[in-house]
Amino acid sequence: MKERLVQIESDAERAIAQSANLRDIEEARLRFWGKKGELTAVLRGMAALTPEERPAAGQLVNEARARIEARLSEAEARLTRLALEQKIAAETLDITLPGKRRSPGHKHPITLATEAICETFLGMGYQIAEGPEIEIDHFNFELLNIPKDHPARDTQDTFYIDDDVVLRTHTSPVQVRTMLTRPLPIKIICPGRVYRVDTADATHSPVFHQIEGLVVDRGITMGDLVGALSTFAKNIFGEDTKIRLRPHHFQFTEPSAEVDVTCWECGGKGCRLCKNEGFIELLGAGVVNPKVLKMCGIDPEVYSGFAFGLGIERVATCKYNINSMRLLYENDIRFLRQF
Ligand code: DAH
Repeated sequence: MKERLVQIESDAERAIAQSANLRDIEEARLRFWGKKGELTAVLRGMAALTPEERPAAGQLVNEARARIEARLSEAEARLTRLALEQKIAAETLDITLPGKRRSPGHKHPITLATEAICETFLGMGYQIAEGPEIEIDHFNFELLNIPKDHPARDTQDTFYIDDDVVLRTHTSPVQVRTMLTRPLPIKIICPGRVYRVDTADATHSPVFHQIEGLVVDRGITMGDLVGALSTFAKNIFGEDTKIRLRPHHFQFTEPSAEVDVTCWECGGKGCRLCKNEGFIELLGAGVVNPKVLKMCGIDPEVYSGFAFGLGIERVATCKYNINSMRLLYENDIRFLRQF
């Protein structure tokens, strides 16, 4: 029995030394001291001894048991401390580490350009008007003097919802809506999204943005248009900017013009950017066609007006020197961060 006890004690010592955590200790305790434990078995074996042998044997077992128990408790205390230390270490907040910052972000160049343009016109007394992006053919085309099957529709091929409903191809239907509903005089600008069946490239996108302008009052002339657009161009591209009108054709204005601004790169002398023109094309404009006024219930004998429409992406790419419109839609943070 003595040998057996020595063996158990050394087994216990090894098991305790190898315990890595409290569960191992608990297992060790069961192994030696549980119902089927090795020490328990030795105790049971004492029944076979003679009454004379029992006290000495009992003492041996008790001593071995006390030593093992002491080792177990000591290891238990050590591992409890260790577990706590590990827990504290894992939960420690390192306040010297930089925090996770959320970048608040900022406005997109299209928004910046829209706001800059709107501000310019608001400063001249214009009001902002809005219209739906899903528009009826009647407003998008017919009342702007673009009848069904007219070739002027070809350049504005669009997404049809059904025969009468389209994704608007320009912001010009807001002119119509405004003339039909607002009292005269009218002085509005209308920023918004428009749609065309265009393949995306450096200067085209099937979805883009425009700003429309419309002024209707007594005695409005082409001179007023030139004044308004010239102020706009100076505000957006700099005080020295001049505008130039070239004759053009739009169904809803008569006369119509394409409006260019002096090249901001060379100041009008001619360079690579403006292809030696000195000017860069920016927008379309004209005097509102009397037919359009009449269709919208305004007497062209009493009232006249001017209108213009410009692409916001065009202004943004020009103003911020961006060489492809696509960059505006890719939403690459490295690009957007620069504005
Ligand atoms: N709606 C025209 C377009 O998208 C732009 C335009 C030209 C608007 C002349 C006008 C205008 O109001 O007078 O191409």
